[in-house]
Amino acid sequence: MKKYIIQTYGCQMNEHDSEKISWILEGMNYKLTNNREECDLIIYNTCAVRKTAEEKVYGQLGELKDLKRKNPNLIICVCGCMMQTKEAIKIITSKYRHVDILFGTNNIHKLPQLVNTYESTGKTVIDIVEENKEIVESVEANRKYSYKAYVNIMYGCNNFCSYCIVPYTRGRERSREPEYIIKEIKQLAKNGCKEVILLGQNVNSYGKTLKEDYNFVNLLKDINNIDGIERIRFMTSHPKDISDDLINAYGELDKLCNHLHLPVQSGSNRILKIMNRRYTREDYLEKIKKIREVVPDITLTTDIIVGFPGETEEDFDHTLELVKEVGYDSAFTFLYSIREGTPAADMDNQIDDKVKHERFQRLLNVLQPIGLENNKKLLGENLKVLVEDVSKNDKTILNGRTTGGKLVHFKGDKSLIGKIIDVKIINVKTFTLEGELS
Ligand code: SAH
Ligand code: SF4
Ligand code: F3S
Repeated sequence: MKKYIIQTYGCQMNEHDSEKISWILEGMNYKLTNNREECDLIIYNTCAVRKTAEEKVYGQLGELKDLKRKNPNLIICVCGCMMQTKEAIKIITSKYRHVDILFGTNNIHKLPQLVNTYESTGKTVIDIVEENKEIVESVEANRKYSYKAYVNIMYGCNNFCSYCIVPYTRGRERSREPEYIIKEIKQLAKNGCKEVILLGQNVNSYGKTLKEDYNFVNLLKDINNIDGIERIRFMTSHPKDISDDLINAYGELDKLCNHLHLPVQSGSNRILKIMNRRYTREDYLEKIKKIREVVPDITLTTDIIVGFPGETEEDFDHTLELVKEVGYDSAFTFLYSIREGTPAADMDNQIDDKVKHERFQRLLNVLQPIGLENNKKLLGENLKVLVEDVSKNDKTILNGRTTGGKLVHFKGDKSLIGKIIDVKIINVKTFTLEGELS
């Protein structure tokens, strides 16, 4: 039996694509290993959203040169979002000529064919499909966990935020037919899955490309009716598309988790406009207010970009104020990274790196104490936790998540993995909670 490794970078979409690649490879009689020396095929599933993500991949590919020299039969593949950019293809085909197969985000299903072609010709295979209108339903996934599962509900993005490469790497927005989604989730439930995480770049606009009149809230309601599924999460929603119906769904659907990840990116109206986000800070805050009216204890998280071109101290202050006003539980914070081909890359008022780093630190200094204060409110509470796995460092400690998505560590037996149990919170930190079985 041949052996493979997949190294994944980027978002949940990519993680799930890797689960599909793994399913395809196992169908080709490959088996997963973690030892590079005995590997027959290595795949890098790449992310292009920031320069740092790309640099990691180039670093890894550089290291593989030696391994390929020692084992010329090793097949090295690179796929994912970087492959949808001309720049990365040019760099890999010129500087990393030991890479054998390059394919993109639209043709994962063709992997067996690509490997065959490479094996029979010995020549580099490049297969990039710029745009894929159809959705391939024949590929299943070799999922990491049995009790929680990623499920794609839509692909691509039509928003073209001026800093973002995703609409170019993932193509135009297209929704999966509801019957396929429901069928997949029913099957997951039959196999013991308790939690589904619905994936899309902008899940609130789900349904727009369907022939029938069916939207994201319709889908949530149908999933809420599936026996065995106990938790529903989704990633990611765009503030401009959060409807009153979705907000009300939080009150109506018992399985919808108490968490909303709502990327704000900036608190300055001027910057939001140049980012092409199509909402104002007032619109955003209004939606937060409405959602809190329905679910007062909802966990709120966000994404923030620091140092977008032309961001002034005043703009940045608006972001800090918004962070305080919302009181986020946590946030993913990013230094703005120039992405060739996006409108923001050509703006001539790029922010100095030192200023970006300094603002980044100030943002963390505001965010973290708020997160900790929010967690302190949970002290002494009994919370429902889905037990996910055993801690890497201490095998007597289990990791689980609350419905708000917070990570809880507690002592317990690994037979609890996959169950939803009550845990009493006895200590809290900025990013994690500590509990005991109650
Ligand atoms: N579709 C999702 C996520 C897209 S990428 C959404 O719209 O929210 C995840 C995050 O990466 C974005 O929310 C944004 O905060 C960040 N990001 C995207 N492009 C970036 C860039 N050029 N530089 C820095 N951060 C970026
Ligand atoms: Fe990128 Fe904006 Fe689309 Fe999100 S909504 S993927 S940030 S273009
Ligand atoms: Fe995801 Fe990165 Fe692609 S964030 S969609 S893997 S560019």
